[in-house]
Order: sequence, then C-alpha cells, then structure tokens
Amino acid sequence: MQEVLRWGEQALAQSALDSPRLDAEILLAHALGITRAQLHAHPQSQLSSAELASYRQLIERRARREPVAYIVGHKEFYGLDLFVDNGVLIPRPETELLVEKAIEISQRQSVVVGVYKSCGSERRLSSDLGRVAEGISRPAYRNQASGSWATRLASIRRSAPTRPALDLLFSSRSPNSYMRPVIADVGTGSGAIAVSLAVHLPQALVYATDASPAALEVAIRNCRRHGVEDRVHLLQGHLLELLPEPVDLIVANLPYVSQAELAQLPPEISRYEPREALDGGPDGLDCIRHLLAQAEVHLKPSGVVLLEIGASQGEAVIALASCHFPAARVEIVRDYAGLDRVVIVETSPQLGEGLPTEPCPA
Ligand SMILES: C[S@@+](CC[C@H](N)C(=O)[O-])C[C@H]1O[C@@H](n2cnc3c(N)ncnc32)[C@H](O)[C@@H]1O
Repeated sequence: MQEVLRWGEQALAQSALDSPRLDAEILLAHALGITRAQLHAHPQSQLSSAELASYRQLIERRARREPVAYIVGHKEFYGLDLFVDNGVLIPRPETELLVEKAIEISQRQSVVVGVYKSCGSERRLSSDLGRVAEGISRPAYRNQASGSWATRLASIRRSAPTRPALDLLFSSRSPNSYMRPVIADVGTGSGAIAVSLAVHLPQALVYATDASPAALEVAIRNCRRHGVEDRVHLLQGHLLELLPEPVDLIVANLPYVSQAELAQLPPEISRYEPREALDGGPDGLDCIRHLLAQAEVHLKPSGVVLLEIGASQGEAVIALASCHFPAARVEIVRDYAGLDRVVIVETSPQLGEGLPTEPCPA
C-alpha cells in the first residue's frame, strides 16, 4: 500500500497539484471503500488488481485537475457530509461564515421573541420592551425592571442585538415570526446553506431556489440525507420569483465572479464547475442586483438579507443594498482570511418604510 501511495503522490506532484500526498491518500481510501484512518492503520495491506486499476483511474482523473470532491462524490460543509456532482458548485469553507451569521441572527431573534412570548401580559411587556429599546441602561428603567425575563433581556441587550431585532417586538403589527423563521436560500446549488440552516434551526422553514434542475437533483439528495426534506422546499426558477410567501431571512451565495476573473480561474474550477454557478456578468454583480430588487417585495418588515460577495465587491454591494433599502443597517463581515465576504442588510421594521424612491441600478 505504501508503494502504491508513493506512486499516486508522484503522479499528482507532476501535475503541479498543491497537496499530492493528501489527494493520493483520499483517493486510495475511496478506491478501497475505507477511511483515511483505516488506511494508516493497515499500511502493509496488499491491493487486489481490481483495486489497483480503480485507484489508477482516480489518480488519472485528479491529474487532469478534476476536483477531489467530484471524484469521491462528497464534500464536508458546516460539519455535514454532502453529496456533490459536477452539476453543482462544490461548497466552499468561506460560505460557512454566511451560515454562521444566518444562524446567529435567527437564534438571537428567536431568543428575544421567546422572552416576549413567555411573559404573562403582552401589553405590559411590549411597553417595557419599548423602554428597553430606548436603552436598558437608563437607571430609572433598570430599577423598575425585575424578574427573570428582565434579566434575560438585559443580557440579550448586552450581547448587542440589532435595533431591528428589538424593534420587531414593539410593533404590534409586526408580521415577523422568528420563533419559526421562514428563510429563502437563493441559488441553493448542492443545498449546502439550506440544509445546514434546516439542521441547525429545527423550527425553520426553508425555501431553496435554483435555476438549474441538475442542482436541485443534488439538493434533494442532501435534504434526504440529513432528514430535512419536510422543511426545505425546493423551487426551480429565477432567484425569488416563485416564493409563495414573504420571508424573514434571505441568504444567497449567488454567482459573483466577474468576466475578467473568470478568465483567470484555475482549471479545477474553469473546466469542471458549472459556469452558471460562477458567472456574475461583467462586474460579477448581475445576480446580486436582481436579487436585491426582488427582495424589496419578498422580505418581511425587519427582514434580513445575507449575501456572500467577492473580496473586492464590498463597497459596490453596500451601495446597491443602501439604494434598495435606504433605511436598512448594512454591514460587511470579513472572513477568516480578513477579506470582505458577507454583506448583511437588516431592514426597517415598518412595512414599506425606507423603500427607494428613485430607481436603483438594474
Ligand atoms: C455560487 S453557486 C452557490 C451554490 C450554493 N449555494 C453554495 O453556496 O455552495 C450559485 C448557484 O446559483 C444558481 N443560480 C445562478 N443564477 C440563478 C438565478 N438567476 N436564479 C436562481 N439560481 C441561480 C446556480 O445554478 C448555482 O447553483
């Protein structure tokens, strides 16, 4: 086995791959139907001629720069093992930041709403909460506040909930429902984001849309694999067009590669990943522009939009988001490499408030 591994590693090194040893091990484990740990536990095992032939084929595919995830047919994302094939973009680690933020926002909102619902008198709590919004640190209010819900609210406030999250509570007209958030994952691909959110937010209902039927075939497999098919509804269509109801949260990792960048992509991406999952038009922002325009009518008051973006697109996306939602709080979150990665748009609690009066760039 050691000898076979060395051969695989050398063959991949000749193709100038970044991690030839790791790839050789993953592919050998795949050919043998075992894990890498099992591979290391039995380094002296002999391979049958059928196993050798199968391994050789896998190495040849990788040497032609086919991504490992397509060869082995799966990829880990947010702690979940997802099926992938060449009909979908391979989920990227940086997209986990988008999921993390979406979960954080949904949980924060539902904790606040949970506190609200657990209080006996809605009216009394509503007015108390109004004072919390004005500032729980005001001494007069702090002295009045008593009981466990007040303590919990104070701690929520200290953990800096967003103003819209709190505002949501004061508006008796607010139709938001963060105890059972309704989420749209736009351009779901493998379903990576939708499935992760459904697994981690067991109350959530997720609409997962994609224009590509091949992508939706993969997404349904992943929904079933992780037992969330009853709460993830797949819709084939353009962005939000087919959404049957307004949503609390829109999350999207849409194509955002510009035409200039497309020409520079490594062969793993340019030859193998679906172009419709990458191509964002001349400046990479075509899909994001259309989505923000559609979001105006598909998002509930106090709804939130989270967009994954390219490292150089932060300023342009903030300008677009601020045009479509002038009253929104817009924030950029950097990824672990320090690059702009996620734009968060937290909209106003009042229906229709802050919508643009002038047309935004289309
Ligand atoms: C960058 S991939 C992201 C896939 C997945 N969300 C992820 O994070 O791994 C973008 C996805 O958007 C889909 N897409 C592109 N244009 C679309 C459109 N106009 N409407 C719906 N989906 C679209 C593509 O088919 C692709 O699956």
